[in-house]
Amino acid sequence: MAELAIIRDGGMLIHDAKIDSVGPSDEIQRKSRGAQIVDARGRVVLPGFVDAHTHLVFAGNRLDDFERRARGESYEQISKAGGGIWSTVEKTRAASEQDLLAQAKRHADWFLRCGTTTVEVKSGYGLTLEDELKILRVIRSLNEESPLEIVPTFLGAHAVPREMDTDEYIELVIDQMLPRIAKEKLAEFCDVFCERGYFEVEQSRRILTAARKLGLKLRIHADQLSNFGGAKLAAELEATTAEHLEKTDRDGIAAMKSAGVQPILLPGSVYALGSSDYPRAREMIQAGLAVVIATDFNPGSSPTPSIPMILSLACTQMKMSPAEAITAATINAAYGLNRGDRIGSLERGKLATFSVFDCEDYRELAYWFGLPQTHSVYVKGEGVAGA
Ligand code: NIG
Ligand code: FE
Repeated sequence: MAELAIIRDGGMLIHDAKIDSVGPSDEIQRKSRGAQIVDARGRVVLPGFVDAHTHLVFAGNRLDDFERRARGESYEQISKAGGGIWSTVEKTRAASEQDLLAQAKRHADWFLRCGTTTVEVKSGYGLTLEDELKILRVIRSLNEESPLEIVPTFLGAHAVPREMDTDEYIELVIDQMLPRIAKEKLAEFCDVFCERGYFEVEQSRRILTAARKLGLKLRIHADQLSNFGGAKLAAELEATTAEHLEKTDRDGIAAMKSAGVQPILLPGSVYALGSSDYPRAREMIQAGLAVVIATDFNPGSSPTPSIPMILSLACTQMKMSPAEAITAATINAAYGLNRGDRIGSLERGKLATFSVFDCEDYRELAYWFGLPQTHSVYVKGEGVAGA
């Protein structure tokens, strides 16, 4: 993770949306007669950031929760008092598909402006069959209408809706939502919020096992608020990823390692919730895990679309090196979305999807925090922002 294979004064030849070759600029120039030249003028060129955990489709915001937290109330207290996930569910249910898409496009534009080109997006603010389908259709439309590549995840088990008890809702997820979503190919992955007060380990296991039978791959919101057994469940089910992991201990880390589960760390939500319990990134890297970092963009616990902000948090709070952080937000993240063969690095044969930053050294991205440094963004060889 600490080795970036930087090419100084590098060049890249692009043909038919793909990378034909990378190398020293003068060499590339010699073999690219007649090609259109884009001069990056000494700026940093990186593979487009891959954000492997977001909740990008929702209505409204949670400004009141934000202010209450500033006054000292906890995420759990605010949720019990009528804020939290439930308040976003109410607004998202009330929004039309068209309106949700318009809001999602606004969010998508924020990601592009931060240099991100691929985003995993979870449903989970609908919690009825119709509303979860509505969100997943918005995710599909966003993939078609925005330059971002979107990877859809069904997170029906994000919370239990007020109008049902947990068992009734789990039945709805397993018997109605999952078969319909699989049939309409609306999601690649299924995720569950495995946590006390949300979905117990046994309930999460039932939902994820049903999803796997229908051909969906698995992710889990694991050990965010307590060391609840989520990482171990991810290992048992051979999930692609276990995400959050703020409270995961050594056993959980060892379980992920032996099952080949990739950890996705979300320091933005630790920061925005005012906590200091960052996940144990160093131990995970030490254990040989291909650590991923992502924004967790959502209106409640992590209202940031910015991978550069996450790079800063990874270095300052989780003691990752700037190079490890870049690896975690590019190639490792691409593998965390089963796209390691197409994106996440600048190599021959991969998509020409990359971002150019207004700095000379990649470490500046994590160092100058809070400052937008994106110069331009290219997807499949086409300039989509700033170009
Ligand atoms: O990843 N943990 C559960 N879900 C989100 C928060 C969602 C919300 O507060 O709206 C998360 O932090
Ligand atoms: Fe999340």
